[in-house]
Parts: sequence; structure tokens; C-alpha cells
Amino acid sequence: MQQSIDLTLTVLEWLTTLFIFAVGVGLLVVVGIYIRDVTQTQSAVRRNFPVVGRFRYLFEHLGEFFRQYFFAMDREEMPFNRAQRSWVYRAAKGIDNTIAFGSTMNLAIPGTPIFVNCPYPTLEKDSAQTEPMTIGPYADKPYAAKSIFNVSAMSFGALSKPAVLALSNGSRMAGNWLNTGEGGISPWHLEGGCDIVYQIGTAKYGVRDLEGNLSDEKLREVGEIEQVKMIELKLSQGAKPGKGGILPAEKVTAEIAAIRGIPEGEASISPNRHPEIDSASDLLDVINRIRDASGLPVGFKSVIGAYGWLEELFEEIHKRGIESAPDFITVDSGDGGTGAAPMPLMDCVGLPVRESLPLVIDLLKKHGLRDRIRVISSGKLITPAGVAWALCVGVDFVNSARGFMFALGCIQALQCNKNTCPTGVTTHDPKLQRGLVPEDKAERVAKYSKSIRKEVGIIAHSCGVKEPRRLRRFHCRLVQDDGRSRPLDELYPEY
Ligand SMILES: Cc1cc2nc3c(=O)[nH]c(=O)nc-3n(C[C@H](O)[C@H](O)[C@H](O)COP(=O)(O)O)c2cc1C
Repeated sequence: MQQSIDLTLTVLEWLTTLFIFAVGVGLLVVVGIYIRDVTQTQSAVRRNFPVVGRFRYLFEHLGEFFRQYFFAMDREEMPFNRAQRSWVYRAAKGIDNTIAFGSTMNLAIPGTPIFVNCPYPTLEKDSAQTEPMTIGPYADKPYAAKSIFNVSAMSFGALSKPAVLALSNGSRMAGNWLNTGEGGISPWHLEGGCDIVYQIGTAKYGVRDLEGNLSDEKLREVGEIEQVKMIELKLSQGAKPGKGGILPAEKVTAEIAAIRGIPEGEASISPNRHPEIDSASDLLDVINRIRDASGLPVGFKSVIGAYGWLEELFEEIHKRGIESAPDFITVDSGDGGTGAAPMPLMDCVGLPVRESLPLVIDLLKKHGLRDRIRVISSGKLITPAGVAWALCVGVDFVNSARGFMFALGCIQALQCNKNTCPTGVTTHDPKLQRGLVPEDKAERVAKYSKSIRKEVGIIAHSCGVKEPRRLRRFHCRLVQDDGRSRPLDELYPEY
């Protein structure tokens, strides 16, 4: 008995000494930090508020994670709020996507779309299938695209291998296309067996010769890959107009370096323009060269800022003949996403699709090219209402990048540029990729894509038309500054 009391007392004595030692060391560390903070000259906060000033950095960092759980309201966050993200998550999981009690959406905010329901909605039995639409009637291999909703450009590099695998398998299941983004084509794009749009960025990864110029030989090889249905020449993207792709060094793994033909572990920075395209005439020359070499429909992607160049382009097409036209134009939004971009470009350069999409469609109509050139649009069109708005404006197809990222499990941690994505979507760290199981997420990708099409159909039926492509501008109104809405056909009269 006495022995165990002695042992307990000895242990307690040791613990007390250890505690006093730990407190002493802690105090010494605090004193050290205090002296360092008051004597350093770089940070005013730490100089004025030594030690405690450091919590600011910690809280700022943690705030990014906690805001979405504890503080932000359902419709508050940017770039996507919780209500939008939750809709995608539920659609992707295939769980009940109805909501209760009433809308949490403020319908008085200018720009909010309101669709005009008709008194006699289309009955289920009278609804129609959306038929495939042909793109590139003058190409050797025109493409009959089945889905109005598709995966927007995101490169293997920006995205991880399991993310690309899930997207390619999910896209096959849902019948939509997958755009490779500007990093070239990888085995993972092909593995799922879906239709592929091959994107050529300014660095021309995958289709360039040793000097970095476009190679007809490589274009021919791309045209021979059966899954590749179209080629998209990227002039610019909404998040960074006038800046090329940026893949940070830590994301340039051996595999990505091999696919792109660049050194491993060095940042991959694409030129900020195609050096050989400096006019409407150059653009048509390159488009026709790619189409002739590959045999595939070819279009271009751009965010719209200035638009006089489009008029020049359309006039040049008429001079050369309508076969020379791009087969499609992808209009990206100024508020589009990216793996990495400078903030001023991301925030304030390039028009949002809200403005640019009607503008491009009307210019095409004005020049009699609307039937020849298909229009695709991307930019925060991740829910059925966004897609239906674009169809009302007159678009043929809608692309989404971040909608599909949410379907893959993205939690909007805003770390795509750091190789630390907590959900494995945009990281090449195998420990983090473990969380993204491609088989499971492919199902989600497919369910999300199908849900969008289904619910856009529900909006169309409510407006009294048989299928989404029959939506017109008069079916949608936009809320104005005075709180009242005006129809799109009055805001943007049809040509
Ligand atoms: C991670 C990531 C990578 C992207 N990579 C490319 C790319 O390689 N080429 C491109 O044209 N656009 C790229 N984009 C832009 C998207 O294709 C799309 O145009 C834009 O994000 C708007 O669509 P969203 O609002 O549905 O995301 C990328 C976007 C993200 C989020």
C-alpha cells in the first residue's frame, strides 16, 4: 500500500516538474516571439501588438474554411453560394432535390432571371426529346452532339488523374462531351470512352513541333482518334483574358510533363496569345488549317471584351465563303473559373456572359451566320435556371467546369493553384487523391449532367414548350434596378 502511495507521489512530483518546465519554456518562447515582433520592421500589426497580432494570420486562414459552415448565409458566398453548391451535390448524389417551405432567393436583386410560366404547361406525354445537333457541316467528320450540357475545358494538370477519369467515365454514361483543356490529351481522358473536344491553347500542347509551332502531322493524329469529335482553339478564357495557362511548378509531375512535352517540376506558363494570330484573317487561316489537317469541326473559345473584331471576322467569313467559318464559338464569362490567374484579370477584365452572350448571338444573326456557327457558353451556369437563361438567350450548348467539379466533390476550398486540394480534384498529391474514388464520382458526374437536362426540361415545360431548345427570349425576364422585371426580348430585341 505504502509502496503504491510513494510511487504515485513520485509520479506527481515528476509531472509537476514537467509542467513547470513546460510553462517556463512556453513563457520563454513567448518572450522570444515578443522581442522578435517588437524589433522587426516588416509588419506593423506585429510591431504594435506583439504575439497576439500573429493570431490575425491564423484566423484569416481558418476563416476561409469556417465561413461556409458557420457564418455565411445560404445565398451569400462567392463564387458559388451554399444553395447553388447544395443543389449540385444533391443532383450528383441522385437524392431528393426538392426544397421545403419557400425560396431563400431574393427575387428583387437586379439581373435575377424569372421564367414566364404559361397557364397550360406541356404535359409529360407531349414533351419532346432534345435532338442531337450537328456541328461543323463542312468538316470531313461533322459532329452530332447529343447533350445540351457538357464538361468545359479543364486540363489534366489543373485536374488530377482520378478527377479526369471520373469525368470521362461519367461523361460517357450521360452522353455529354468532355473538353480536354489546354494541357493536351491524356490516357485518362480516353479511358472512359466519352466524346472529346480537344482544346488547343496558346502553348499548343500535344499538337506542336519541336519549335513549338502547330504541327499538321500531330493534328492529323488527333483527328484519327475516334473519340475526339471537335477541336477548340482557345483565344482566351474568362478568368484571365490576355494571359496564358499557368500550371504551378509543384503540379508539373513527370507524367504531366511528358504529355505536355515540358520539363518536370518547372512551372508551365503558356504564351499570352497565339503569336501567329493577329487579325480576323489570321484566325480564319488557323481555323481552316486545323480543320483541313484533322478533318474535325473547329471553333474557338473567347471571353468577349471589345467586340468590333467579331464584326470584322464575320465580314471576312462572307468574303471567303461560309465554309471558312469557325464551326462554333464558345463564349466564356468574365467571371469564369481557372486553376490559377492574376486577381485583377480574374476580377475585372472581360464581360460576363449576362452581357456578352446576347451580344454575340445578335451579331451572328446580323451577319446571317447564326445557323452556320453554333454557340456554346460557359460561366457560372451550374444550375438549371442558369442553363435555361442561356437557352432563352439563344445558345446551342452550355459548358460547365466548376459545376462538374462540385459533382466530383469539390468544396470550394479555393486551393486549385496550390496542389493541396482537400478533395483530390486539383492535386497530384497521392495522399489527397485517395479521397476521390473515380468509380463513385463518375456516377455523380453522370447524375449531375442528367439532372441538369431533366430540370431545364421542367422549366421549359412550365413555360409551355416541349423541350429546352424551344425556349425563347420572351420566356425569360430579368429583374431591373427598380425591382420590376423586363422580358429578354425587350432588353435584347431579336434581329
Ligand atoms: C480548374 C480549372 C481549370 C481550367 N482550365 C481551363 C483550360 O485549360 N482551358 C480553358 O479554356 N478554360 C479552362 N478553365 C475555364 C473553364 O473551362 C470555364 O470556361 C470557366 O470556368 C467558366 O465555367 P464555370 O463557371 O462553369 O466554371 C478552367 C477552369 C477551372 C476551374
